[in-house]
Amino acid sequence: MLSQDRSQTTRLETELLLEAIFQRYGYDFRHYAPASLARRIQIQLRRQKAQHISQLIPVLLHDSKAFDHFLLDMSITVTDMFRNPLFFKELRETIIPRLKTWPYVKIWCAGCATGEEVYSLAILLQEEGFYDRCQIYATDYNKRSLVIAKDGIYPLNKIKNYTANYNNSGPKASFADYYHAKYDSAKMNDNLKKNIVFSPHNLASDSAFGEMNLILCRNVLIYFDKQLQNRVLELFEESLCAGGFLCLGAKESLQFSSMVDKFAPVSQKGNIFRKIYRQQEMDDVC
Ligand SMILES: C[S@@+](CC[C@H](N)C(=O)[O-])C[C@H]1O[C@@H](n2cnc3c(N)ncnc32)[C@H](O)[C@@H]1O
Repeated sequence: MLSQDRSQTTRLETELLLEAIFQRYGYDFRHYAPASLARRIQIQLRRQKAQHISQLIPVLLHDSKAFDHFLLDMSITVTDMFRNPLFFKELRETIIPRLKTWPYVKIWCAGCATGEEVYSLAILLQEEGFYDRCQIYATDYNKRSLVIAKDGIYPLNKIKNYTANYNNSGPKASFADYYHAKYDSAKMNDNLKKNIVFSPHNLASDSAFGEMNLILCRNVLIYFDKQLQNRVLELFEESLCAGGFLCLGAKESLQFSSMVDKFAPVSQKGNIFRKIYRQQEMDDVC
């Protein structure tokens, strides 16, 4: 087969596979970025010892265990405590003082993976003496990751790296204050969890979360194509109250998106944006 025919066939098979999954299970991967999608599908081909993508369709439609593996393979859960420490420093120094002017603050951490990002945020808010006035909603479509996130138990061998990141984020205490080590695990302190609600939410198909003051969605949009990125950014615009803040990952941007005129950059360093509001909208500030 000519290479052009082969790539057209691969594209067609991929579309059929993703459409079948959407129709059968309601999970919508039809607008994930093609390069990342192709790598995930290669993993499935190896796992199922299949030669062609179309052979995956009956397997994934009829075998729920195979579909569970597919879901896990589709979710890239790479994360870290205080990932990109300078972002957390910027959040602490530039955004938290502004958030403190609100009596009560609602935060959405979308695509929270196994929870390291949300515990980092809880630590930061506690150190700023502000955590009791915050409610954090931590969501991901990967339910297995959410179980790990709720437990807040991480391998002890990661603590060295977590501590180094924490130390670079402008901290006010010691990272060791926030966990208890037991055997080869580190369990995050229960008081960090008290204002966090972990819940499933799919950015590709679910609706907005109302009246958020701050949204973190870092290192998630890079896996989506332009159309899905726009959908998600519209969801965030709808979910934020007037003057609310949106934090994206270092490689993500609002440039060329449908929402570029709805936000103003607040920090280039932290990739943080503020929803633009007209003065009269301030009466509605949540
Ligand atoms: C690379 S992790 C980023 C984790 C964390 N935000 C960070 O920056 O360290 C990407 C996460 O996005 C989640 N994700 C991917 N597609 C999603 C979707 N449609 N809805 C919700 N979460 C999604 C994955 O399950 C994964 O946990």
